[in-house]
Amino acid sequence: MPFRVTVIGTGYLGATHAACMAEIGHEVLGVDVDPDKIAALQAGRVPFYEPGLEDLLAKHVASGRLRFTTSYEEAADFGDVHFSCVGTPQVRDGYAADLRYVDAVIEQLAPHLTRPCLVVGKSTVPVGTAERLADRLAELAPAAELAELAWNPEFLREGFAVEDTLRPDRLVFGTRSDQARKTLEEVYEPVIGQGTPVVVTDFPTAELVKTSANAFLATKISFINAMAEVCEASGADVGRLAEALSHDDRIGGRFLRPGVGFGGGCLPKDIRAFMARAGELGVDQALTFLREVDAINMRRRSRTVDLARELCEGRFLGRKIAVLGAAFKPDSDDVRDSPALNVAGQIQLMGGDVTVYDPKAMDNARKVFPSLGYAQSLDDAVRGAHAILLLTEWEQFRTLDPEWLRGQVAEPRIVDGRGALDPSRWRQAGWTYRALGRP
Ligand code: UGA
Repeated sequence: MPFRVTVIGTGYLGATHAACMAEIGHEVLGVDVDPDKIAALQAGRVPFYEPGLEDLLAKHVASGRLRFTTSYEEAADFGDVHFSCVGTPQVRDGYAADLRYVDAVIEQLAPHLTRPCLVVGKSTVPVGTAERLADRLAELAPAAELAELAWNPEFLREGFAVEDTLRPDRLVFGTRSDQARKTLEEVYEPVIGQGTPVVVTDFPTAELVKTSANAFLATKISFINAMAEVCEASGADVGRLAEALSHDDRIGGRFLRPGVGFGGGCLPKDIRAFMARAGELGVDQALTFLREVDAINMRRRSRTVDLARELCEGRFLGRKIAVLGAAFKPDSDDVRDSPALNVAGQIQLMGGDVTVYDPKAMDNARKVFPSLGYAQSLDDAVRGAHAILLLTEWEQFRTLDPEWLRGQVAEPRIVDGRGALDPSRWRQAGWTYRALGRP
C-alpha cells in the first residue's frame, strides 16, 4: 500500500473504479482506446451523468493521483495491478455476450507485461471466460510466471456508483493463488477495514456470483410485474400487494417495485447472456425460467402502450403524448434498453405525436431515437398534451403538482408507469389516472 493501479476501460464501471481507487489511496492510471474520452477525463470531466463522480474525479486529477492514457505500453510499465473494466454488450445476432473488448484487453496488454503484476477482471462475463483469459495471459506475457489473473466482479448500480464502490455489500475474489488473494486484500484494505465481507473463491464461482445476482434481481422485478398482470385481471392493487409482501423479511421490499420493468445496460443483456451460456454448458433447462422473466418484462412495455391508447379513446393519431423520462432509471443519463424510450417509440409508430422530456438523458436519447420529439423543458413537454406518461421516476416528476399540471394539458389523463404517484391525490385533482397493476 499504496499500489500503482491501472483501470482499463473508462465507462460507467471503469471511470468510477479509477476515481475510487485514487480515493482509497492508490496511484491510478486510467486507460481507454477512445482519445476523446481520455481527454475529457484528464480535464476532470465525466462524459456521462453519475452523481458525485465528477467531484471525486476532479479531486484526484488535481491531486495528481489519477491520470489517463491511451497507451497500453505505458499501462503495462506502470501497473502492479491492472483492472479490466470494459463492456460486454449483447451480440447483434443472438443472446450471447460480445467478448471482443474483454479479449482485446488481454491481447493488447499481455505482450507488454515484463514485470510482476496481477490482472483483475471486473466485467460481467459468461462463466468460463476467466479460465480462458488466464491461459491467453500465460501464452502472451513475456514474463508469464510473473503475471497472474484474478476475477473480482463488480456490483455497482448506476446512480449510486461511487457509494457502491467505496462501501460495497461484499467483495468477491476469484483467485488461483494465495499471492493473488493477498494482493487483492491489500488493494481493498480500506474497504475491507470498514467491515465489508469478502468471499474468496475460484474463477467460475466468482463469475457466476455476478450473473446469478443480476438474474435474481431481474426475476424479482418480473415476479412483482407478473403479479401486476394478475392484479389487473382481478381488480387487485399491486402497489398494496408489494407493500404487504415487503414486510416479510424473507421477501424484502427492494427490487419489488412494479412498473414498466427493467432496462439498462446490465439486467436485460445479462439474463440473455446467462441463458446462452447455460445452453453451451448443456444446462439450458436450468435457466428456461429466465426466458419468462424476459417475456414478462417486455410485456409490461406493450401493456403501458395499451393503457395509454385506452386513455386516448383507442387511437394515437392526432394525439399529443408527453413522455416524462428517457433514462432507464432516475439519476442516470443512460438510455440503453430504456423502457421509457421503447414505449415512446412504439406510440410514435402508431401515429402518436410524442414529445419526450428527461432532466439528464436528452442528448443520449436523441442519438438513439432521433425521430422522436424532444422538449427543452418539462413545461414545453406537457403543454397541450392529450395524455402524460410517467416512465422514469425522477424526483422532478414524482413531486409534480397535479393542480398545476392540469392547467397545462389539453386533457388531464396520466399513465403512471412507475407507480410513483398517489392515485387518490391525482384523481381528486380531476385526473384520469391509470397505472400498471392498479385498479
Ligand atoms: C444492476 C444491478 O443492480 C447492479 O448490482 C449491477 O452491478 C449492475 O446492474 C451491473 O451489472 O453492472 P443498474 O443496471 O445500474 O444495476 O440498475 P438497477 O438499479 O439494478 O435497475 C435496473 C432496472 O430495473 C431499472 O430500469 C429500474 O428502473 C428497474 N427496477 C429496479 C424496477 O423496475 N423495479 C425495481 O424494484 C427495481
